[in-house]
Amino acid sequence: MFSLILPTFNEAANLPELLPRVEQALAGIDHEVIIVDDDSPDRTWEVALALAKERDDLHVIRRIGRRGLSSAVIEGFLAAKGDVLAVMDADGQHDSGLLKRLYEAVRGGSGIAVGSRYAKGGSVGQWDERRHFLSRVATRLGQAVCRVKVSDPMSGFFAIDARLFERVRPSLNPKGFKILLDLLVHIPKDTRATEHAFTFGGRLHGESKMSRRVQVEFLEYLYDVTIGRFIPLTFLKYCVVGFLGVFVNVGAYWVYAELLRVDGIISFAGFSVAVIASIETAIIFNFLLNNVWTFAHKRLRGASALMGFAKYNVACALGALVNYAVSALLVWRAWPDLLAVTIGSFTAVLWNYVMSRMITWKD
Ligand code: GDD
Ligand code: MN
Repeated sequence: MFSLILPTFNEAANLPELLPRVEQALAGIDHEVIIVDDDSPDRTWEVALALAKERDDLHVIRRIGRRGLSSAVIEGFLAAKGDVLAVMDADGQHDSGLLKRLYEAVRGGSGIAVGSRYAKGGSVGQWDERRHFLSRVATRLGQAVCRVKVSDPMSGFFAIDARLFERVRPSLNPKGFKILLDLLVHIPKDTRATEHAFTFGGRLHGESKMSRRVQVEFLEYLYDVTIGRFIPLTFLKYCVVGFLGVFVNVGAYWVYAELLRVDGIISFAGFSVAVIASIETAIIFNFLLNNVWTFAHKRLRGASALMGFAKYNVACALGALVNYAVSALLVWRAWPDLLAVTIGSFTAVLWNYVMSRMITWKD
C-alpha cells in the first residue's frame, strides 16, 4: 500500500483542487491519503474532514497546540499503513504526476525516491533571485551533512520505504522544514536513493510558510548534526548568556558604585551593596535572556515565569555567594574594585557551570 501524507497549514482553498488531482494520479494503486493539519486558523481541517466523509481512502489528523512541517510529516508516517510512505506539499507546487514514479521506484528497491528540482530536467520554476540564492546555499550546506547525497536534499517531495523510516525514526530531529535532509543524514550510507526531476510549480492559493524562523531553525539544525553532537546548542547558548552576564554584572557595578561614591570614595558597605545589586541585575538579565533565547522552546510565561525566576535565583545564589566572596576578598586585599568584581563574576560563571554539570546535567 502507498501512503501519501499531505501536511497542511492554511491550505483550505487548495485541498478541493488538489485532491482530485491526487486521486487521478493514484488511480490503480492501493493507497491512502493522510492530511496532517496543525489546527489551521483558516479551518483547513474542517474542509479536509468534509472531503474525507466522501472518500474512504482519506484520513485527517488535526494536531492541537503544535506547529512544524517536519513533525507533521513524521506524525503522518507513524499513522500510515502503507509499506511505501510519501509526502507532498498541499499547495499544488509539487507535480502529482510524479507520485506513481516515486512509488514504483521504492517498490523497485530504492530506499528513498526524491522528487528533485535540481536533477537534470528539473527546475525551481519562478522564484525571485533571493529565494533562488537562499535555496542554492541551503542545498550546498545540506549536501555537506548528508550521508546519502542527492541533488535536492531540501525537497519536500519524496517517497521512502516504510521499514527504512522505522529504522531511523528514533534518531530524527523534527524541528523545522527539513524532513528529507534529516532522513538523508540518518539513513545507512549504502541506501539506494533515486532522483526524479520535476519543475516546482506555482502555488494555487495562499502563501508560503517558509519564515525567517524556519530559516534560523535550518541553521540550528546544521549546528545540531555537526558540532552539536559534541557541544549541544543549548549549552553553547547558556555559555554565551553567562559571558554576557559578566559584562552586565561589571557594568551594573560601575553604575551603582558611581551612585554610592561619596567624595570619590566608596565605603566597604557601599561596595557590598553595589556588588550584591549588580549580581542580582546580572541574574535578572541572564534569566530573561535564557528564557527567551536559550530555552525558547520551553519559554516560561506569566505565573510560571515568576516561579521559574524564583527557582533560578536559588540556583544562582551559591554562585552569587562565591562571586561576592571573591570580589570582597580581593577588595579587602586592596585590589582595584572593578578588577575584583570582574574576577568574582568570572568565578561565578565557572562555579555555575560546574554546578550545572554536577546537578542539572548530572548523567
Ligand atoms: N501541518 C503543517 N504544519 N503543515 C505545514 C506547516 C506546519 O507548521 N508549515 C508548512 N506546512 C505545509 C504547507 O501547508 C504546505 O502544504 C507544505 O507544508 C509546504 O509548505 P510551504 O509553505 O508551501 O513551503 P514552500 O513552498 O515555501 O517550501 C517548499 O520548498 C522547500 C524547499 O525550497 C516545501 O516543499 C519545503 O518542504 C521545501 O523544503
Ligand atoms: Mn509551497
